[in-house]
Amino acid sequence: MKTIKLGLIGLGTVGGGTLAILRDSADLLQQRVNANIEVSIIAVRDLNKPRAVDTGSIQLTDDPTQVVNHPDVDIVVELMGGTGLARELVLRAIDNGKHVVTANKALLAEHGDEVFAAAEKQGVQVAYEAAAAGGIPIIKALREGLSANNIDWVAGIINGTGNYILTEMKQPGADFNAVLKRAQELGYAEADPTFDVEGIDAAHKLTILASLAFGIPLQFEKVYTEGISRISADDMRFADMLGYEIKHLGIARRTDDGVSMRVHPTLIPKSVLLANVSGVMNAVMTHGDHVGPTLYYGPGAGAGPTASAVVADIVDVVRALDCAPDARVPALGFRTTRDLPVMD
Ligand code: NAP
Ligand code: HSE
Repeated sequence: MKTIKLGLIGLGTVGGGTLAILRDSADLLQQRVNANIEVSIIAVRDLNKPRAVDTGSIQLTDDPTQVVNHPDVDIVVELMGGTGLARELVLRAIDNGKHVVTANKALLAEHGDEVFAAAEKQGVQVAYEAAAAGGIPIIKALREGLSANNIDWVAGIINGTGNYILTEMKQPGADFNAVLKRAQELGYAEADPTFDVEGIDAAHKLTILASLAFGIPLQFEKVYTEGISRISADDMRFADMLGYEIKHLGIARRTDDGVSMRVHPTLIPKSVLLANVSGVMNAVMTHGDHVGPTLYYGPGAGAGPTASAVVADIVDVVRALDCAPDARVPALGFRTTRDLPVMD
């Protein structure tokens, strides 16, 4: 049986969760891919930090270039975050002929076209299920399950931290900063939580979802972005009295004037399903011309759910290694198929 070697960059919330699944579910994964999946090397920032997950005999380094240049590594799993060093490392990995799995929506939303062009040129995979809506397999749904449809719109709650805050703020006396701190402790928030609170993270994810749904290039700069930081306890109370919930939505819609992409707080009648999505849960709805409406629900952040999506990507990449490069599904990621204008 063949052995596939992984190099992880990052062993925080998602990296730790990923290593735990690879360990705990090694037998299951081996059966699913008919190969051994081994972690050869892990890069972290601080080698002295205590780790929740046992790294055993795996080589640890504080130099992530060692991962992307490692001669034995087949798949680089980028779980570090950011758009500077992460971009350089991912491009270097691709250049070195490594396949890449990443949860980094900021990187893909802002530099995805460059990353995917490099991957296509090198004939390697870049898989990114964890980059949108955490544990919900929404990338797979849009790319594969709905591929017979023209998608009219995709909309939903796509930031777990924001939804957790909006849910907790309904409790009498809740304090915004204390609730945000709890979301950070639970591993939901971005390294810079402004990304969650100001809607930037949701805009990154919507960029990716819209690109997949409509076959358009990634255009993060075209997303109208408004966060939840200006929502007051009074706003929540009045909404409640009038029979509404305030939810932070990402909405991408195909119109006669082009694609519109926006993220902002929205009043939703309590009788509507999305209004009842609480805590860290996410929910994404789509509308296709043949299937009509579909709805996907699940945990949008946190170690286990996000790592579940990362490991699913690893499984996909390993399975695809048996196929000719042109037949590999994950590489179909951001192929531009449409010349649709996108509204400013
Ligand atoms: P995190 O807990 O902050 O972990 C980041 C990891 O990267 C840490 O292990 C850190 O090392 C390491 N790191 C940072 N800079 C480094 C450097 N220069 N060299 C080597 N290692 C470095 O972040 P996270 O929440 O796991 O998120 C990771 C990625 O997943 C991000 O792109 C995020 O947007 C995405 N994501 C997160 C979630 C979630 O629920 N948290 C969900 C979906 C996607 P140390 O441990 O030594 O500090
Ligand atoms: N910070 C992100 C969120 C992590 O709260 O949704 C999952 O992408």
